[in-house]
Amino acid sequence: MQAEKHDIPDGLNEEYYQVSNDILGSFNKYRPPLNIFLFKEDVSRVVPYYKVGGRLTNEQIEELRALTNDGLVFVSRADHPVYVKHISYQLDLVLVDRRLTEREIADIFTQALTRRMADFLEQPVKPVLEKLRVDVMVLTEYLYTDMARARALVRRLHTEHSLENHSVNTAFTGIALWGRLKGDNFQDSVKRKVFDRTVLGLFLHDMGMTRVPEFIRSKTKPLTLDERGKVNAHVKAGFEMLHKLDLRYLEMEQCAVQHHERLGGSGYPLKSVTQDFAGRLCAVADSFSAMVAKRPYAEAMGPVKAAALLARDGKYDREITGALQALLLLDLKMKP
Ligand SMILES: [Fe+2]
Ligand SMILES: [Fe+2]
Repeated sequence: MQAEKHDIPDGLNEEYYQVSNDILGSFNKYRPPLNIFLFKEDVSRVVPYYKVGGRLTNEQIEELRALTNDGLVFVSRADHPVYVKHISYQLDLVLVDRRLTEREIADIFTQALTRRMADFLEQPVKPVLEKLRVDVMVLTEYLYTDMARARALVRRLHTEHSLENHSVNTAFTGIALWGRLKGDNFQDSVKRKVFDRTVLGLFLHDMGMTRVPEFIRSKTKPLTLDERGKVNAHVKAGFEMLHKLDLRYLEMEQCAVQHHERLGGSGYPLKSVTQDFAGRLCAVADSFSAMVAKRPYAEAMGPVKAAALLARDGKYDREITGALQALLLLDLKMKP
């Protein structure tokens, strides 16, 4: 139990994180990667306990554990990058540590999932997928009960293009849009299983791109017809990869196969198709993510402008593009 018996001044939380034993226990025991402070009640102030580069004795480790249980151990918010990086390697700690702010958690998710996604795209095999899947499930656990939390993720979209950045952006955007569409009824109208599968599907929607030669993917000049065909084949490749990875779920297939299909039949691979919900959601999130990231051949577009273009484009689901505009303008209060 974290004792609240100590009178910790409010201002302290602006400068320090109070550390839990789960977090403390996850650091290197003898050589924690960041400075540690104690709250001294008699002087009502925080004093240094351990400095990076030093080494804790076994006695100190025990003492620190007891003090942490009493809620007296802190790390500096100036060490935010170290802290975020550390937790991002053990993402489930996010669900345990009640003292992290929504923004800090969003930073941690962004960093952790981008790294996992990059690892998977580099090596799209089951064991690497499993690590990504576990972390994505931490994300869905965190969001399912309170979808408004997804807004903080949309504030952290990557602005540089890479396949992992794009995948993360598409997933974050898709989730936030879905939350916007359902409002307070999310848990009543979306089953947890469907949510989990669709979210992983959003992350994986473009994994077929790993089969497209790098020189085509990074080409800054217009693609030849042949090259264009190879890029478009990423959809089919993605579908095959899902099966190879034993991910035989409709929601994931819809994300992978339908995200380039358009209402009215102008997309690919199918010309006239009724897109399923996951496909329509992924289509909007995917196009939006592509527009707001800087690419070798195009500057990044402002999110509000990108949303306006999509809303005017009849080839996308109007309800979803409307939700995108509402999300940016009303919920996130972004300026045009
Ligand atoms: Fe794609
Ligand atoms: Fe995409």
